[in-house]
Amino acid sequence: MSRFVVNGGKRLCGEVEVQGAKNSALPILSATVLTRGENILYNCPKLSDVDASLRILRYLGCDAKEQNGAVLVNCDGLCENEIPDCLMREMRSSIVFLGAILSRTGSAKLSFPGGCELGPRPIDLHLKALRKMGAKISERHGVLQCRAENGLKGAKINLSFPSVGATENIILAAVLADGTTTIINAAREPEICDLCDFLNCAGAKIYGAGEGVIVIDGVTELNAVSHNIIPDRIVAATLMSAAAVTKGDITLSGVIQNHLSSVIPVFEETGCQVNVKDGNMKFSAPERLNPMPLVRTMPYPGFPTDAQAPLMAVASICNGTSVFVENIFENRFKHVGELTRLGADIQVQSKVAVVNGVKSLYGACVEAQDLRGAAALITAALIAEGKTEISGIEFLERGYENFEIVLSSLGAEVRKV
Ligand code: EPZ
Repeated sequence: MSRFVVNGGKRLCGEVEVQGAKNSALPILSATVLTRGENILYNCPKLSDVDASLRILRYLGCDAKEQNGAVLVNCDGLCENEIPDCLMREMRSSIVFLGAILSRTGSAKLSFPGGCELGPRPIDLHLKALRKMGAKISERHGVLQCRAENGLKGAKINLSFPSVGATENIILAAVLADGTTTIINAAREPEICDLCDFLNCAGAKIYGAGEGVIVIDGVTELNAVSHNIIPDRIVAATLMSAAAVTKGDITLSGVIQNHLSSVIPVFEETGCQVNVKDGNMKFSAPERLNPMPLVRTMPYPGFPTDAQAPLMAVASICNGTSVFVENIFENRFKHVGELTRLGADIQVQSKVAVVNGVKSLYGACVEAQDLRGAAALITAALIAEGKTEISGIEFLERGYENFEIVLSSLGAEVRKV
């Protein structure tokens, strides 16, 4: 178990570039299964989740490697349609390989996915949609046996919830299917748009990405492309949180303002100054932060659930009471107990967390239990008096590239041991 040791109280200043988006890179890596030739992915973040996807691609018989800061993937040699349990367990998003493998080979065998334990991680919406497209899926002893001998057929699919993963799986199953697929109540996240940009460049016919209705006309083949992964909006929100708690003044390069349209106003409510111009964000924080009256997580373009934890760390030292409502995942307050060990005053009642800001946090030994919870603990440690030791950094490395180096370059005192 690697740990971070943080000496709090250092004001963050300076400029960093925001890494590529994990939640865009992962579905795009799955999408390469459908293409002929060598794809080149630029701005692909160096993360353990990306490594896990590359290992899955290699296991399937694809050629996947990193070269000069880009990721090269050629799936011409694909010869497997099963992903073993050990690889599936490493992360939740490996379920997004299902649609792509099923479309490419006509059958797939996967176990139920792992990933952060954010409450039950059902995949009912994925399976219901794929069955509607002609897949025969049996679930036994945690293994999904999927077949589509006659290929997948276009269908009209109503999602009861705008699930990001289900939307991605349906798109990957539909781009080479026979006929047209319409997704009603599709997820609108920027990562969905990035996936569709990649696929359309490869020859797909996808219309309406980013809207609630996406239409996909099946085509016969897709050819490999070069693609620039969009910046990671959640890493940007996390760096804003780090600057906010340390009364910092930073510049983030590689920011797409409208991807943060529901995050920026929350920071402005606390008194932070945020100015975005030509992809660069200037962010500065006041001496004392005002509270965040109400932060409710919602599907995009609402406030992102992935930013709830880091912003709760900011709220823990605001001058007043902030309220968070977690509407997306059932069990996404596991960082509360650990923030409390650092001196935060937070009460949780089902999906509501009430944060009474305190004057100071104090260093302690804390343990991360999921990816964004780890980000919250590091954010709090940056302002906690004295030394904080954070274990479970493996969780952080799933989504944050060299984060101790990024924070140190802004003046934080963070060591990885
Ligand atoms: C994606 O997860 C992201 N992961 C998550 O980021 C993000 O929090 C989430 O979308 C919401 O934005 C990746 O993109 C790799 P969902 P996903 O399907 O696809 C329920 C991070 O920190 N649901 O939109 O799993 C589900 O239980 C990660 O980077 C069903 O009920 O999210 C949850 O309550 C964490 N049945 C809600 O929908 C289904 O079949 C949102 O899930 C699928 C989902």
